[in-house]
Amino acid sequence: MKLKGKVALVTGGAKRVGKAIALGLAGRGCHVAITYRTSGAEASAAVRAIQKHRVKGLALPVDQREGAQVRRAVRAVLSKFHRIDILVNSASSFYPTPWDQVTEAQWEDLLSTNLTGPWRFAQAVAPIMKRQGSGKIINIVDVAAFSPWPNYLPYCAAKGGLVTLTKGLAKALAPSIQVNAIAPGPILFPPGLTTREKKRALDRTLLKRVGSPEDLVQAILFFLEGSDFVTGAILPVDGGRLLA
Ligand SMILES: NC(=O)c1ccc[n+]([C@@H]2O[C@H](COP(=O)([O-])OP(=O)(O)OC[C@H]3O[C@@H](n4cnc5c(N)ncnc54)[C@H](OP(=O)(O)O)[C@@H]3O)[C@@H](O)[C@H]2O)c1
Repeated sequence: MKLKGKVALVTGGAKRVGKAIALGLAGRGCHVAITYRTSGAEASAAVRAIQKHRVKGLALPVDQREGAQVRRAVRAVLSKFHRIDILVNSASSFYPTPWDQVTEAQWEDLLSTNLTGPWRFAQAVAPIMKRQGSGKIINIVDVAAFSPWPNYLPYCAAKGGLVTLTKGLAKALAPSIQVNAIAPGPILFPPGLTTREKKRALDRTLLKRVGSPEDLVQAILFFLEGSDFVTGAILPVDGGRLLA
């Protein structure tokens, strides 16, 4: 896919990894819409940074636990940009939930944000991409989908579901739309992690170091512009974490 002039929708694009992805796509000439939930000021700053690449930017408030908000956001992107070529499902919710203490509300919250939300976005953009005759969807999962952490089971189960959703959508939406996923290892630690916890996470990789958001951007660019013959693939970008 040639990226110049294409339209990308990046969920959770106001900060951290999602922002790096949004700027990476803007740098390749895509017009980029981002979603945010609570980070309004950061989202406005991200749009200004997107526009510095001489492309259009748009920030939309979305709580992706609500289907109506997702569908409204997709309509807003279509109304401003008249097409949607790329969806990157990056928004995520991540907090500890020791397996014997996790509540129904936490389970619902983590599954809805991390699994149902990406499905909602895919279901809303797929008919648009089909009408256009092409499109690409990339889901950001986690190595924890394959090697789950007991203290984060709802998050891990949701990401495992997102792996399956990726493969299922690749089948359902072929041949016009390619659906792939990236499984990051340690890239940007969540706030509040102790030095010991960070060291332990890095010790569990083969490369013994943290990755960067740019590593993820490059992997996403491969799925987008490197090949149109890859679908249903899950690419670990994890410093060898899954093998270690
Ligand atoms: N960072 C890493 O090292 C790492 C490792 C493995 C996997 N990943 C995956 O890579 C992706 C990006 O990682 P990240 O660390 O940048 O993510 P993050 O900071 O945990 O979350 C990204 C954004 O998701 C948004 N979000 C949370 N709940 C939402 C909801 N209900 N509706 C809509 N948006 C919501 C938040 O937006 P607001 O701030 O606007 O509220 C947040 O800024 C995630 O899918 C994550 O699971 C990351």
